[in-house]
Amino acid sequence: PVPIIVDCDPGHDDALAIMLAAGDPAVDLLAITTVAGNQTLAKTTLNARRVCTVAGITGVPVAAGCARPLVQALHVADDVHGASGLDGPRFPEPTVDVVAEHAVDLMYRILARHPEPVTLVPTAPLTNIALLLTRHPDAARRIREIVLMGGSTERGNRSPAAEFNIQADPEAADIVFRSGVPLTMCGLNVTHQALATPEIVARFERLGTELGQVCVELLTFFASTYRTLWGFQDPPLHDPVAVARVLDPGIVHCVDANVVVELQGRYTRGATVVDLHRYTGRPVNAQVALTLDSGAFWDRMVGAVKALGDR
Ligand code: BDR
Ligand code: CA
Repeated sequence: PVPIIVDCDPGHDDALAIMLAAGDPAVDLLAITTVAGNQTLAKTTLNARRVCTVAGITGVPVAAGCARPLVQALHVADDVHGASGLDGPRFPEPTVDVVAEHAVDLMYRILARHPEPVTLVPTAPLTNIALLLTRHPDAARRIREIVLMGGSTERGNRSPAAEFNIQADPEAADIVFRSGVPLTMCGLNVTHQALATPEIVARFERLGTELGQVCVELLTFFASTYRTLWGFQDPPLHDPVAVARVLDPGIVHCVDANVVVELQGRYTRGATVVDLHRYTGRPVNAQVALTLDSGAFWDRMVGAVKALGDR
């Protein structure tokens, strides 16, 4: 299995990304690190512990990272994920604890000690990853690749041009995209192919497990905000797409391209400028996801929740 660390801000789709990473045998989840994004750091960290508790994920360290973006102020996405960051289900008191170490220190320690290079899967603003690369430049060569959910080849979801994870900390994203570490970007253009239709929700329900029911409640809440805010019929399950790319690269088709993060634009700050047609001559620095095998994606996602629920 591919060793990975999931860096997240749960978040409904982050919750399912954690489950996919913990429940699918093709990856070895070494740690879950949290960052401020969808909600404050305190809430995203509590939510990660809640997810681990309901999913029976034990023995995977959970560490809290940065409480705010590198430069700008924190703007949470409570309109999408609710006041708790994970509205919908009622969670029991978490029994999984957070470790005393900062997320960046934990990541660095794991990278330094693990026998093989480790893949980082950020599904949140890139603050922790940028700090890791800045504080520990030698960490870069211990990272196999960074497979992130963020950005878009097309339009945004927090502004006409910018996607949330990049717009939430553009300076951090800029550091990551310019780091030279092999990078895969799973943006909105591909995650909008991972739609949690009523048929998909019914598959989680039919598992007949407590965890399957938690997923139903998460997806139902997520569907309601996506319907109200953007008029989506079915909500796109962004974050697990990045995990899916690691566990079976064939599920997410990518092309090579140069990607830069817009930091200055008066109307476009936080946009990912993706040179799909090689206009600029700038070197390739990312694999950019374009198409999702949604059948295979949902089979793996439901399979992981089944595996965790049966344990
Ligand atoms: C991203 O923003 C967050 O609200 C989601 O968890 C996902 O990581 C989608 O733009
Ligand atoms: Ca997220």
